[in-house]
Amino acid sequence: MKIVNRIDELRTMLTEEKTEGKTVGFVPTMGYLHEGHLSLIHAARKENEVVVISIFVNPLQFGPGEDFDQYPRDIEHDEALAREAGVDYLFYPTVAEMYGERPTVTVKVHERTDCLCGKSRPGHFDGVATVLTKLFNIVAPTRAYFGLKDAQQVAVVEGLIRDFNFPIELVGVDIKREEDGLALSSRNVNLTPEERTEAVHISKSLRLIREAIENGSTPAAALAEGIGYLQGHITGSIDYLEALSYPELKSITDVRETIIVAAAVQYSKVRLIDNVIIKNEQPRG
Ligand code: PAF
Repeated sequence: MKIVNRIDELRTMLTEEKTEGKTVGFVPTMGYLHEGHLSLIHAARKENEVVVISIFVNPLQFGPGEDFDQYPRDIEHDEALAREAGVDYLFYPTVAEMYGERPTVTVKVHERTDCLCGKSRPGHFDGVATVLTKLFNIVAPTRAYFGLKDAQQVAVVEGLIRDFNFPIELVGVDIKREEDGLALSSRNVNLTPEERTEAVHISKSLRLIREAIENGSTPAAALAEGIGYLQGHITGSIDYLEALSYPELKSITDVRETIIVAAAVQYSKVRLIDNVIIKNEQPRG
């Protein structure tokens, strides 16, 4: 595995690989790798001849009071995991390498951001879209892999790839969970032991809502039940628990469309998100 800090060096190396006709799978990350990232890397490894991951905690996607400084970092651990998972190139740039003194152009996302995390994180998805535009241009991958835990991010990236005509195939990979159902996240280490114990109820409430919808409840009734359950079982504050169409992220007008049920819970030092996607494959009629 090659560790590369410079944009021009990575470009040169990948151009060489591509002139040999090799496909490139790209996994953009902010590091502190866990099983969830590894499942993206494994998917990329299976489907491509060359695998590139980036580790870059992107300041542009963190708001003023957010956890940019507290975001967990452990590059030695990440290097070891990436090497073991069969990564070919680990791109690990500094903020100065990516943005110079200050970016002069950024990307603005107009749809799919006025709900869920976008509501309480103004500018977050603009920062994500900006860094991904840069990373897609630097790496120019055949396929890019994203975890469906950040389902709103996947919806935004789908729009970015389509609107900016990136010749990249987007691959969304299912959520990896702890044994008790908690969605894996780099941020889980910042939960207190009590918060970690009760956080299991987030995924439980989502499952409850999914089952109710699958058994014929209206999304509104199922959500009310799920919100009641969650309020009764956690001390964290519920930022949202919503059901929307996916990937459009609009109000549900037809229960036969694909639906996302998504939750965010704010704890003392960390905000957790989770979701389930209900694919409705019934024939429309
Ligand atoms: O999901 C993440 O880790 C980040 O939002 C991403 C896609 C690496 C962009 O900084």
